Amino acid sequence: MSLDIVVLAAGQGKRMYSQLPKVLHEIGGRPMLGHLIDTAKALQADAIHIIYGHDGERVRERFASVQDLHWIEQTQCLGTGHAVLQAVPQLAVDGRTMVLVGDMPLVSLATLQSLLADTPQQGIGVVVAEVDNPSGLGRIIRDKKGAFAAIVEDKDCSEQQRQIKEVNSGIILVANDKLCEWLPKLSNDNAQKEYYLTEIIAMASAENYPTFTIKACSSVEIQGVNHRAQLATLERYYQQQQAQHYMLQGITLRDPARFDLRGELKAGQDVVIDINVLLEGKVSLGNNCHIGANCVLRNVAIADNVVIKENCVIEDATIASGCIVGPFARIRPGTELADEVHIGNFVELKNAKVNTQTKVNHLSYVGDAKLGRQVNIGAGTITCNYDGASKHVTEIGDNAFIGSNSQLIAPVKIGQGATIGAGSTIRKDAPPNALTVSITEERTLQDWQRPQKNSDKRDK
Ligand code: UD1
Ligand code: CA
Repeated sequence: MSLDIVVLAAGQGKRMYSQLPKVLHEIGGRPMLGHLIDTAKALQADAIHIIYGHDGERVRERFASVQDLHWIEQTQCLGTGHAVLQAVPQLAVDGRTMVLVGDMPLVSLATLQSLLADTPQQGIGVVVAEVDNPSGLGRIIRDKKGAFAAIVEDKDCSEQQRQIKEVNSGIILVANDKLCEWLPKLSNDNAQKEYYLTEIIAMASAENYPTFTIKACSSVEIQGVNHRAQLATLERYYQQQQAQHYMLQGITLRDPARFDLRGELKAGQDVVIDINVLLEGKVSLGNNCHIGANCVLRNVAIADNVVIKENCVIEDATIASGCIVGPFARIRPGTELADEVHIGNFVELKNAKVNTQTKVNHLSYVGDAKLGRQVNIGAGTITCNYDGASKHVTEIGDNAFIGSNSQLIAPVKIGQGATIGAGSTIRKDAPPNALTVSITEERTLQDWQRPQKNSDKRDK
């Protein structure tokens, strides 16, 4: 039997108070709708239809690169039943349809698989959960024998029905022939004047058509996002799930509650990640890597035995094995560190290719530069790469030694084995294996007096 998936994503999300369509708000660095699309794809549905509406072009644009999505516009949001009705002409004649809810992004594959497995082909299955606070949610109504008879929306509940804690997730699986029969018959005679998808349960019960409830694996995964506090709750849940996953894969997280991954992580063995680390985009860590507290790594590939000390920000860079970086280093896009490079505190690198065993240990800016092997960059060295109009390259040969507080005014080349005297301003290429130093004469003024503060004068 074929499977169509219909994702409801046309709602405005008023309570987000946002310019951004609700389904584009992010969890774990990805739009909510993206999570649902991935889950839908993992179910290997025959077709995925997305009902879009409010600011829909932005939603479509965001997923323009995703293949095989059928976008269906709902021009007016008249309710969940009306939303699914828009997809009816597209549904396979003899298949089944699973309805997913755009603002419930973390429903698990396992829950949806049990919905598929436990709902007979002639029957309706609804994912439900028991929750402590059911307010705002549709209640599961059972008849005297306990059979699932209807869903009543919160606003339409009697006092007695309001006490029920078993609630509708909004996720429904139903045969297409019945769906096509029932949807046009929905009425909007209810508190919200909407066409409710949930009304098909009562229609089914009236015909003695079988109805089933399927418990969600966790009640958190069927929590919807209606406002930003719920967005934050789901973000935490998502991060905990990821942390758990990576710990079970062998990564040590010093505190799983203070670990955030907004992207994809690949890690080798015996990786240790200290507290408050944020990983974004594509991050890979080799064996025996240690990431210190408060680091941000964004699109970074790190090889084996690397130590990133506390408070480093590293972006779009590759770091080869045995490097030591930080604390307080900033590594910007285009930087490549070869094996056993040392980058120390308050060092900024940008678009710098740094060869094996080179050291930039303190207070330096190295931008648009090529550094050879075993180069030593003294404290306070600056590659002056920008003349106000264009960027220029600094090249430093193997074994060069740059004395502290030097400025290398690019474009400039420092030869192999060259030594630059401390405090030099280098404007011309420095030859290999020689000392180059820009000398400013040192003077002593014997009669000079330090200026005095007014208060010191009064004391005298
Ligand atoms: C819905 C269910 C409720 C369930 C709850 C779970 C109905 C009538 N109610 O209520 O039983 O407990 O979800 O969170 O189904 N949407 C459209 N077009 C529309 C209306 C809604 O695409 O015309 C989309 C919304 O963008 C949203 C989803 O459908 O993603 C659910 O709609 P919403 O209005 O949030 O329904 P709830 O009141 O939360
Ligand atoms: Ca909702």
